[in-house]
Amino acid sequence: MLWGLDRKIMRCFGVWIERLGLNVEQIYISIHTLKVCVCVCVCVCVCVCVCVCVCVCVCVCVCVCGVCVFGSTDWGNGVDQGEDFSVSCYTESPGEEERSHDVAKILKKRESERTQEESADLLLHQDTVQELCSRQVRRNLLKRKQEEVFDDTEDLRCKVGQLAEAVRQAQHLVIYTGAGISTAASIPDYRGPNGVWTQLQKGRAVSSSDLSEAEPTLTHMCIRMLHEENMVQHVVSQNCDGLHLRSGLPRHTLSELHGNMFIEVCTSCSPVREFVRLFDVTERTARYRHGTGRRCAHCGGELRDTIVHFGERGTLEQPLNWRGASNAAERADVILCLGSSLKVLKKYGCLWSMNRPATRRPKLYIVNLQWTPKDDLATLKIHGKCDDVMRLLMEQLNIQIPAYNQTEDPVLSLATPLRPEEEDSYTRKLIAPPAGGKDCSPDSLGQGGGTAVQGGWFGRGYSKGRKRKRRKVVV
Ligand SMILES: *[C@@H]1O[C@H](CO)[C@@H](O)[C@H](O)[C@H]1NC(C)=O
Ligand SMILES: [Zn+2]
Repeated sequence: MLWGLDRKIMRCFGVWIERLGLNVEQIYISIHTLKVCVCVCVCVCVCVCVCVCVCVCVCVCVCVCGVCVFGSTDWGNGVDQGEDFSVSCYTESPGEEERSHDVAKILKKRESERTQEESADLLLHQDTVQELCSRQVRRNLLKRKQEEVFDDTEDLRCKVGQLAEAVRQAQHLVIYTGAGISTAASIPDYRGPNGVWTQLQKGRAVSSSDLSEAEPTLTHMCIRMLHEENMVQHVVSQNCDGLHLRSGLPRHTLSELHGNMFIEVCTSCSPVREFVRLFDVTERTARYRHGTGRRCAHCGGELRDTIVHFGERGTLEQPLNWRGASNAAERADVILCLGSSLKVLKKYGCLWSMNRPATRRPKLYIVNLQWTPKDDLATLKIHGKCDDVMRLLMEQLNIQIPAYNQTEDPVLSLATPLRPEEEDSYTRKLIAPPAGGKDCSPDSLGQGGGTAVQGGWFGRGYSKGRKRKRRKVVV
């Protein structure tokens, strides 16, 4: 029927077409082409629909299965997702699951309390018993790695003495820092028992209340002084809090591998143009979504934050400064790691000179309360809070520790003022009143404290895309 349509049309309108002086042949061909196009379109649409349906079905299945497998899993006290995965991912058929449940119940009882029947059961299911035991062992190991250990005062003093000697002797000392050095500045560290990471894993909201009020800690100030005294050549940080910069450490000495929450950039400009702000620019950004909502004053291109999330590759020259970091690691003879679990840093091969024989690698000094994957390679592991260790160290090296002075904060002079139309483009608190003395931040109307972090450098992006359980928060 459809195929006769063009002929019918021609029969009806042929006369008119001729009277209008149009070419009948051409019209005929056009109608034919149109018909073919419509057919192709319909086919494509149907195909796409089918594909989408299939995808949705698969997704729903995966989600439902996922909830079954992981939904009831107790993630334990701050376990690392990557490692725990291997534990909980052990799949069993329904019958086996029931059995392992029964066996686990029996295993929990003391030997003397087990009935004969139960003991026989255990003997019968040796495999399950073994699997459960090895799971328990793995779980305990994981727990031990999470625990915070403190060296006693005497130990600490002695170890810091050794560290001081190493710092004095070092030709090229490089410091690697993690969130642990910022905890005293009320920025929660990631993987400690109360860390951001742990909280997010448990599905808890993270408070941003004190974030912008954070100031460089004693450790930050010590690092700056060590550099001024020419004892530290480079600092590599995985923190986005910008506190190294704010302590007065020169930029070329610093590699902020995961970005700086106070810097937004225009990548359309060449070279990349940088805008330092006095507030957290990441409030609307997340993993794979870096637009900050403001525009470049020079080319109008969209500005983006500099934060590198899990799974992303950071390529920005500044503030990441990978070249500075790898050059420093290349020349280092001593590496001092402060307050980092090193779980992320260890993956950056160029920082560790692992291609050299062990005797020619830089000596490793680690200050961290928890276990790190580099502990076995370390010349010395110090279990202490960074501020405590650094205070002792500076005492031994006989260097004064300056207090942080906000009026001398370099970020104040580096900052680019917002244009008038951008004044309302942020809601986060200012880290310091602008030079003009006007200190009104948009949220000064009382909503300041306790707001949960939305997006941003440790918002959704940091939870590796896994959906968090939502909990109602009573305010
Ligand atoms: C901070 O620095 C400014 C300018 O250098 C100085 O005038 C002020 O006294 C300093 N404040 C403190 C508390 O040291
Ligand atoms: Zn631009």
